[in-house]
Amino acid sequence: MNKVTVSAPGKLMLLGEHAVVYGQPCLVTAVDQRLFVEIGETGDGKVTIKAPESTDTRFVEEAIGCGVSTWKIKHQGLRIKTTSPFSGKYGFGSSAAVTVATLAALASLFHQEVDKRSLFELAYQVILSIQTVGSGFDVAAAVYGGTLFFTKGGTTLAPISINDLPLVVGYTGVKSNTVEIVKQVAAKREKYPEKVDRIFEATGKLVIDGKKALEASDWERVGKLMDFNQEYLRDLGVSSEKLEVMISAAKTGGAWGAKLSGAGGGDCMIALAGSDKREVIRKAIEAAGGQVIDVRPNAEGVRVET
Ligand code: MEV
Repeated sequence: MNKVTVSAPGKLMLLGEHAVVYGQPCLVTAVDQRLFVEIGETGDGKVTIKAPESTDTRFVEEAIGCGVSTWKIKHQGLRIKTTSPFSGKYGFGSSAAVTVATLAALASLFHQEVDKRSLFELAYQVILSIQTVGSGFDVAAAVYGGTLFFTKGGTTLAPISINDLPLVVGYTGVKSNTVEIVKQVAAKREKYPEKVDRIFEATGKLVIDGKKALEASDWERVGKLMDFNQEYLRDLGVSSEKLEVMISAAKTGGAWGAKLSGAGGGDCMIALAGSDKREVIRKAIEAAGGQVIDVRPNAEGVRVET
């Protein structure tokens, strides 16, 4: 069977979640937990999807439909298999990663030359058709990899060059529902437009500041900005008790800064910490009931594996 395997990385939001949905910039890094999609042509005329770690195959189905119609692909049946070490569990962006990897695998199997920008646009369209909300930052991380300064829909999509990014990542054990939380924030903005818009504007400013600090490896400054960002997220009402306990444990352990990463409500928190503090912080996060996840940031974007 003629087949191709493609992988795409997960992501972590460094600064700027929620505000990015309203036009402010954010900073996102791709992580080396990768999701794999294998597509083969079968000859049986059917499209079969095997996704053992996921109960939701809509993103794969929609990506196949989108790729087939965009590239006018005539196939004799497809077998698609996804493998993911992270599935939907940690909030690493499995929907974006599976959408990007499926489109890229289909393009590769049928010899379509697709540049990164077009892949981003198609994958973002697929995500929006299902989720209806979202800035596309997770799609950008899956396509481009590295660490990106990003605005909604990719109106700004700038790779930033960093030497290192000393993160400790803690999982709360609670799965958060991004779409639901984005809608809650929208409802809050309806009710308190001035207050919420002020938070978004302030978040946008600290993201711009954070970009410079990251590029200069000024970890103390990045940490401080993470703390400020966490205060804004708390004001938006998207933090949780578990996140707060883990964030405060990391801070007490000597982190430069710590915050939730992603929609909030659960999923992961991130702490920025020097090598002399990391072990203490890992233990503190675990003592607070979190699970430390070993991921490396600044990972490579989508790639053909075989
Ligand atoms: C969710 O991981 C991050 C949000 O900013 C939503 C988005 O940007 O699509 C809350």
